[in-house]
Amino acid sequence: MRPLDGSRCTVAFGHLRENNMKIIVIHAAPRMETGNTQVILNPFLVGLRQEGARVDIAFLGKKDIKRCIGCFTCYAATPGECVHDDDMPSLQERVRDADAMVLATPVYLDGMTSLAKTFLDRMVVFLDPHFTTDDVGVIHPLRWKFPKSIFLVSVCGYPGLHNFDPLLMHVRNVARNFHSEFAGALLRPAIFSILLAKKYPERVNRVIDAVRESGVQLAKSGTVSEQTLRIAAEDICPPEELVTMANAYWDRELNRFRDRRDKE
Ligand SMILES: Cc1cc2nc3c(=O)[nH]c(=O)nc-3n(C[C@H](O)[C@H](O)[C@H](O)COP(=O)(O)O)c2cc1C
Repeated sequence: MRPLDGSRCTVAFGHLRENNMKIIVIHAAPRMETGNTQVILNPFLVGLRQEGARVDIAFLGKKDIKRCIGCFTCYAATPGECVHDDDMPSLQERVRDADAMVLATPVYLDGMTSLAKTFLDRMVVFLDPHFTTDDVGVIHPLRWKFPKSIFLVSVCGYPGLHNFDPLLMHVRNVARNFHSEFAGALLRPAIFSILLAKKYPERVNRVIDAVRESGVQLAKSGTVSEQTLRIAAEDICPPEELVTMANAYWDRELNRFRDRRDKE
């Protein structure tokens, strides 16, 4: 496994050390409670809650979120108010109320899901239309309070942490746009290998324990150690075994549906 870079090492979520900080979890996986993102989120949330964090989970898949049409009405004609009539205003209220945000999205074609992107585009109502500068370049000032930090939780199908690189860069830049600190990421590649709990119980338990420990550390001390994040991303089986397992699964599925079609 290649070394973790700084963004994956020490997580600076320092303000969570204050008691009972409120965290909004933006759950941007279309399969919601039934998917692998939830498999990783569950122990992570146990860890956060264990240390007293107040967690508000917003399942984007259950919400009506229309896509931004780029009209800029929310910038000037009706400042802070979008032309769409949907669930975003109540979600924006919940975001304004939170001290920190956890963005939970699986990797879809090397990036975040369209649910996550549509939601984030609609967060431009948080921005004042004027331009200002920071130490990197030009950004908008904030119109409303935004969570002080964004922490990413993500899973993907392929083995290797490099599969998260475009997503990491994207979320880091999104955080800057909202004057928020990018607080790091809990990343679980080769997520389907979690299904091998019967064959590799110790390895799977070690990963799940590290995921829960990530929540504990984040809430308790404001950091997640490099070692804990590394264990959470550890290989459970060799890539060759994953390939064999995935291909056997899809062959079974193809046969199953072919049989069903033949009977019709
Ligand atoms: C449309 C789509 C695109 C995907 N693209 C990638 C990808 O680029 N890289 C990867 O490693 N996994 C990719 N995956 C696999 C998902 O990350 C994986 O299935 C994950 O478990 C999905 O999250 P969920 O189980 O919570 O729905 C993709 C899955 C879908 C449905």
